[in-house]
Amino acid sequence: MTFTDAEVVAHAAYVLAGNGDELSTRAAPNLYPHQWSWDAAFVAVGLAHLDVRRACIELDSLFAGQWSTGMIPHIVFDPDESGYFPGPERWASAASSPAAPRSPQTSGICQPPVHALAVERILSIARAKGGAARTAAEEWLPRIYPRLLAWHRYLARERDPHGRGLLTIYHGWESGMDNSPRWDSVYRGVVVGDDLPPYERRDTAIVTDASQRPTNVEYNRYLWLVEELKRVGYADAAARTTVSFRASDVFMSAVFAAANESLARLADSLGAPEAAELRSLARLFRSGVASRVDPSVGLALDVDERTGDGIRAATIAGFAPLICGGLDPLAERRMLDLLASWLADARLAHAVLPTTSPDSPDFRARTYWRGPSWPVMNWFFAWALQLRGLDLAEPMRSASVDQLRDGSLAEYYEPLTGEPLGSFHQSWTAAAALDLILGRDWR
Ligand code: SER
Repeated sequence: MTFTDAEVVAHAAYVLAGNGDELSTRAAPNLYPHQWSWDAAFVAVGLAHLDVRRACIELDSLFAGQWSTGMIPHIVFDPDESGYFPGPERWASAASSPAAPRSPQTSGICQPPVHALAVERILSIARAKGGAARTAAEEWLPRIYPRLLAWHRYLARERDPHGRGLLTIYHGWESGMDNSPRWDSVYRGVVVGDDLPPYERRDTAIVTDASQRPTNVEYNRYLWLVEELKRVGYADAAARTTVSFRASDVFMSAVFAAANESLARLADSLGAPEAAELRSLARLFRSGVASRVDPSVGLALDVDERTGDGIRAATIAGFAPLICGGLDPLAERRMLDLLASWLADARLAHAVLPTTSPDSPDFRARTYWRGPSWPVMNWFFAWALQLRGLDLAEPMRSASVDQLRDGSLAEYYEPLTGEPLGSFHQSWTAAAALDLILGRDWR
């Protein structure tokens, strides 16, 4: 069955309505029954095409979980849901840190800061709609702006204390790409203690093909890191030196650079005095990301901060400099050519990015972030290229729409066969569908 544009849009709107209530949207109907940080930002862009006011509320609900440090936690828990592990009891954020809100309950780590990019896109959608939609977004902007600013200042202060232009993460979940080969070597250094409290996975009861999800060995490490973070009260100063997973994330840093440009433009439009500070952060992080390009692989490499080594994984994160700019024109051309060659791979079912190169020994076609193609990432790369005026944006957009014509709105797809995998009716996939088809900024 092949859905038309109109059918994809109608289905995506139906899925978003079913996954949410009047305040927030579950990242997925069963697998992720709470609000996730970067999911919520992407979902809000999708919602803006349907109802701008509701899009603003989505982000307000997420930011209700903001810590006093400015951190936006990666999960804001719905108190009426108990179907996800690790839930609020396991994180014990408020019991462990005075910076965590008592209500809503949240996790104790963060995710890529795509929020300012989302807010700028919501405004653009609202301005194109005009009327009440435009008024709602413009009245909301001065309320969300200080919260975005506090979030960006947290990241600069606590995740890049030495001003290198690279963000440090304490958990693979913070990258959003949980089990990507990017983190294999870092995770090998995570030695699970004998006192890891017992737990029962819930994810494999929902996605029953275990090959699509991280392994039990990986889960033990994920949960062990939560224990380590809890034991230092989720305090950044202690986490930076004690947690056994520490890496600099080029993708998250590139998102931060681009998000600082967005936030600076929003500051300009409000006449806020921080635009220069934000542009200086954007410059710092652009050059930090550009400095990580390894010419022998043609990609930007993350850093294992415990050894100082670059991590030679051939994943989508390596294209990070294309998100934020900062390469000289020749180096940027070379990276765009490499991106084009990934998209042109005749083995692919659709000309969209697999998360790991099929040529890599780490490639696993069905396993979560180790190979499958994620519609949200193809949307995000196409969107970032479009913002920068780069010409691969449109072919990526239309190939991404074609991938979504199967009607599953899946979390991810087997890149070689096009089989939908993971959780179906994933909220951010529905959001991607709406923006890829309805977004006027593409034209
Ligand atoms: N993506 C993680 C999970 O699989 C958490 O952020 O639960």
